[in-house]
Amino acid sequence: MRSEDCTLEASHDLSQPKIAASDDDRGMAKPASAVYQERETVSRSLAEPALLNAIPSPKPFLDVLSGQRQPVPPLWMMRQAGRYLPEYRELRAKAGGFLDLCFTPEFAAEVTLQPIRRFNFDAAIIFSDILVIPYALGRAVRFEVGEGPRLDPLDTPEKIETLASEADFAKLEPVYEALRRVRAVLDPKIALIGFCGAPWTVATYMVAGQGTPDQAPARMMAYQNPDAFSNIIDALVANSIEYLLGQLRAGADCLQIFDTWAGVLPPREFERWSIEPTHRIVAGVRAKVPGAKIIGFPRGAGALLPAYVEATNVDAVSIDWAAEPSLIRERVQSKVAVQGNLDPLVLIAGGAALDRAVDDVLANFAMGRLIFNLGHGIQPETPIAHVEQMVKRVRAYRG
Ligand code: CP3
Repeated sequence: MRSEDCTLEASHDLSQPKIAASDDDRGMAKPASAVYQERETVSRSLAEPALLNAIPSPKPFLDVLSGQRQPVPPLWMMRQAGRYLPEYRELRAKAGGFLDLCFTPEFAAEVTLQPIRRFNFDAAIIFSDILVIPYALGRAVRFEVGEGPRLDPLDTPEKIETLASEADFAKLEPVYEALRRVRAVLDPKIALIGFCGAPWTVATYMVAGQGTPDQAPARMMAYQNPDAFSNIIDALVANSIEYLLGQLRAGADCLQIFDTWAGVLPPREFERWSIEPTHRIVAGVRAKVPGAKIIGFPRGAGALLPAYVEATNVDAVSIDWAAEPSLIRERVQSKVAVQGNLDPLVLIAGGAALDRAVDDVLANFAMGRLIFNLGHGIQPETPIAHVEQMVKRVRAYRG
């Protein structure tokens, strides 16, 4: 084993005894203004860097991943750093391009912390994007305002042959630096999540060169030229493992693999292009960091979720809002933790519909291991007051 690997394992010693967070620590029954208290904590931490990470600290979020249900489910939101926040929009305008925002550690660290300051979430997710891997593999990646990502399409087997097999990890160094910066100031009770896209989902953008409503170009490539398509998948598997290990080394506590477009695949293809590559990533990361905690998000997998959990060895699955509760409880939550699954649209709607939907998620899943989240990313038009309403309601839960 290389010495570098030893260091990595030592810094992620997951055999530490877990100390359950007390209800007081979790900020239960706080006044309404208490969701903002993190602003103070973060600035205090900045002044006292030497005290940080000195002792292993309880993180309710990681406790759920390790098998301990929490009386108040830990809470965060996918895409929690983003356009619904005025402070994000301000920094985004200052940064110039979206990738400039991702690759300027000072800015990326700052936007990572913005939602934590406002809502005191139990987890921060590093601000980056799943398309930084194609970028590091030498593909041109641009984010057009109002249009989403644009890449040079890999739409023929001949073009796929030109794909580099190894990413230029120097290009991803700013992401690691942003993680180190967040790690240094983050409240020790809050977990830091690193992430990558699942190979299938990243490949849908690489083949089509952009987002598509039905991912038809990648599905077609996988049917017509499976060998060429597997070359893309294999490159993504190998480089995603390295990228995730780099994020752990830089201070991430756990990892999430986003497979946003898993749900368009028929069962046989789901097995081959979603489950199997995700399993290889999980195994590859754990070969170096045996206790690494990993959340999978095969959005839209529905009845295929039990097979996904069984075969990938993830510690938790993120479920979308259409998931059927009894199937999830009996065949998924009985084995791993569940994360989700509020409909992002009901967060826009607010009011009594939002209260009811929050209560439904809690009633469906909070008796088992639950990380409260949305069923997909928060939408830019979501009112901040509705996020506050959701946070208060989840934290008032007594289970
Ligand atoms: O969750 C977080 O707060 C961390 C940051 C994060 C972003 N993208 C920032 C982002 C994460 C985890 C992602 C993941 C991601 N990126 C996924 C998987 C999860 C999902 O939501 O489905 C996918 C498919 C992408 C690819 C991507 N990036 C698309 C399709 C787009 C354009 C569409 C859109 O939502 O604007 C992006 C851009 C992007 N990534 C933005 C943000 C905040 C918006 C860009 C902007 O500010 O202009």
